[in-house]
Amino acid sequence: MRLVRPVEDHEIELVAERMRATLVEVLGEARGQAMYTMDWLRDRVRFHLDPRRSTGAVLVAEEAGAVVGHTIVRVESDGTGLFSTTYVVPAARRRGVAQALLLAGEAWLSAHPIRELATCTARDNGRLIGLFRAHGYEETDATDEMVRLGKPATRGAGDGTDRQR
Ligand SMILES: CC(C)(COP(=O)(O)OP(=O)(O)OC[C@H]1O[C@@H](n2cnc3c(N)ncnc32)[C@H](O)[C@@H]1OP(=O)(O)O)[C@@H](O)C(=O)NCCC(=O)NCCS
Repeated sequence: MRLVRPVEDHEIELVAERMRATLVEVLGEARGQAMYTMDWLRDRVRFHLDPRRSTGAVLVAEEAGAVVGHTIVRVESDGTGLFSTTYVVPAARRRGVAQALLLAGEAWLSAHPIRELATCTARDNGRLIGLFRAHGYEETDATDEMVRLGKPATRGAGDGTDRQR
């Protein structure tokens, strides 16, 4: 059985390590390792958990007692509900874990006053882009390296009703 729930304090280190694993996978070993220190990454997780510093959440997907994926979301000052990062361990991929995290993240963000849901990733990250496109996100901005995907926030976003026909 899969459970998507808020991260617990003792899992902060695990999420920080997987933020690094995400950077390595997306940017390559050298750039991914060098981009941020582990201290910075740990603090970045805590930033999203501290209501004095951000309006954010760190959600983890658990299967058979193990954390197999996470997503980090926050409300930006311009009213964007942003998926900051999403990661699923290789052994648990292509089973809908990231999709479950996306729906849970949308539900969390939609409980706040937001005007748009969005995420940014590397332009060649077809896996993540395919997932968000399948949920109605479209390209709203792009550079040579990065792409931003967004969709208007609607009442009920994240509860799956927008995907029913
Ligand atoms: C991107 C990632 C989070 C997807 O996780 P996942 O749990 O495998 O995704 P899901 O099983 O929920 O897949 C849902 C949909 O995403 C897309 N998708 C996922 N993996 C894919 C792949 N390898 N190739 C193409 N599309 C893929 C598909 O639309 C898929 O639907 P389908 O399986 O019915 O075709 C995972 O591959 C990952 O952690 N990658 C490395 C980290 C990363 O790139 N994070 C984003 C950085 S911002």
